[in-house]
Amino acid sequence: MALSDKSRRDDKQTDDVTASELEVLMANISKIMEEEDSKVFSNEVISEFRNPHNPERMADADGSGMADGLCGDMMEMFVKTDGPRIVRCSFFTDGCGATVASGSRLARFVEGMTVDEASSVRPIDLVSLLGGLPEDHEHCAALAVIALRNALRNVEERRRAEG
Ligand code: FES
Repeated sequence: MALSDKSRRDDKQTDDVTASELEVLMANISKIMEEEDSKVFSNEVISEFRNPHNPERMADADGSGMADGLCGDMMEMFVKTDGPRIVRCSFFTDGCGATVASGSRLARFVEGMTVDEASSVRPIDLVSLLGGLPEDHEHCAALAVIALRNALRNVEERRRAEG
């Protein structure tokens, strides 16, 4: 799947195309899409997208938060803490490839930070960690940062509620 494409491969095989022909065709299409992606996205974005860090809803999170983008995409972030420190961070999104890369890079970045340190991470910091994003995808980084801040707020709320 290409970064800019949310659609999934249709594995149905037609009668007049053999499995190996289809495989070659898909490999060629995939290569073309990867070449197009690399013209638009940095190596960091492509690498995070291909190997995302903790892309899951965390069942035992100490805090979770979400953010909805004007584009219609959604991002959720989850944090597990040990005292003041974030020991694990995960994300879940139905958004584009840049959003996957943003959630992944942010989750990776804040693990080991204190809640206060992570709260001060700005969208521009994340864009910079990703080696830049195209202007029309900068909001993807903002979505991840907003979701994380909401998750960190949720940690504080839960702590206050527990006394
Ligand atoms: Fe909507 Fe990336 S295009 S979050």
